[in-house]
Amino acid sequence: MVAFLYPLIRPFLFSLDPEVAHEIVLFILKYLGAIFSPPPPPEGAPISLMGLSFPNRVGLAAGFDKNGTAIDGLAHLGFGFIEVGTVTPRPQAGNPKPRLFRLPQARALINRMGFNNAGVRSLVAQAARRRWSGILGVNIGKNADTPIERAVDDYRIALLSTWAIADYIALNISSPNTTHLRTLQHGEHLEKLLAELSLLAEQLTQTTGKRVPLVVKIAPDLDEESLTHIATTLTAYPISAVIATNTTLSRTGVAHLPLAHQTGGLSGAPLMAVSTRIVEQLSSLLQGRLPIIAAGGILTAEDAVAKIRAGASLVQLYTGLIYRGPRLVQEVIKATAAECLPRSQRSQAM
Ligand SMILES: Cc1cc2nc3c(=O)[nH]c(=O)nc-3n(C[C@H](O)[C@H](O)[C@H](O)COP(=O)(O)O)c2cc1C
Repeated sequence: MVAFLYPLIRPFLFSLDPEVAHEIVLFILKYLGAIFSPPPPPEGAPISLMGLSFPNRVGLAAGFDKNGTAIDGLAHLGFGFIEVGTVTPRPQAGNPKPRLFRLPQARALINRMGFNNAGVRSLVAQAARRRWSGILGVNIGKNADTPIERAVDDYRIALLSTWAIADYIALNISSPNTTHLRTLQHGEHLEKLLAELSLLAEQLTQTTGKRVPLVVKIAPDLDEESLTHIATTLTAYPISAVIATNTTLSRTGVAHLPLAHQTGGLSGAPLMAVSTRIVEQLSSLLQGRLPIIAAGGILTAEDAVAKIRAGASLVQLYTGLIYRGPRLVQEVIKATAAECLPRSQRSQAM
């Protein structure tokens, strides 16, 4: 129903400021979730990963529902998992507006939102009220005014606060819109962060009796040496998966477009190839020791299949939803299910 309506309302949404359009969509989803009962478990190819049972391979990427206000409505789109956040310990306004730009010719977005969010306490209250019982990931980050040397403190607070409501916690160390955040992907910064947080997670598992897998989200703008270091470090600590990737600082393929000069992270179709290349490289470095969750430029079912073929176990969508609407979720669920079936059963499923 919503999938059918989206092509009709998209021209109206695209006539508005992108952030206003997003707020309207979130508002509709919030009320949809309040009115209708939670949907039954969605269809697809189930998979067990990180000790969790995913009903299908398709999730919502972080940043769409930063405060967890529309979880029940989003569940109606058929997602196998929903990642909320990025949330920071304290509420913060984010960067000045305008901070979100459409590049429709390239089916892309540029954003420099800067972790605008209502803070961890608000997210926890929203998530605790949800009626949907599917897999909820919580993506955490640091406040903009916390010095980078004290970043670990913010991740500790956010981890402690969201432990009870999260099925997995994603450490966002790859947003390009928080000064120096991406340095946490490198060298001793990464080792210190993972050492401290995995120790805290271990203590929380003991004291609460609940295990919450930790996941790390990385950038696409990484050279081979950095990626090799990340893969080695992730496997040296009890990290359960890696999300590849966040948005890119590159403007390859879009530099000629009117809004390409805007500061921020580029997402959507132009990110597909570079992000999939990272999945491929990670897959060869990790050799199956950690599952990969692929995000970046999935605009079609074929894009999602390419991510699975590159080595991903799960995929996440964001910009594709803006351009294609809820129909994309159904298409990707179907295509990834067919791709993940044993070869002998594939033709029957198509
Ligand atoms: C407007 C916007 C806001 C985002 N906010 C976040 C965020 O808060 N945390 C995060 O980890 N990723 C965030 N992302 C990145 C997405 O989760 C995703 O990794 C990226 O956009 C690539 O996927 P896509 O090409 O399908 O959009 C954001 C992306 C967009 C477009």
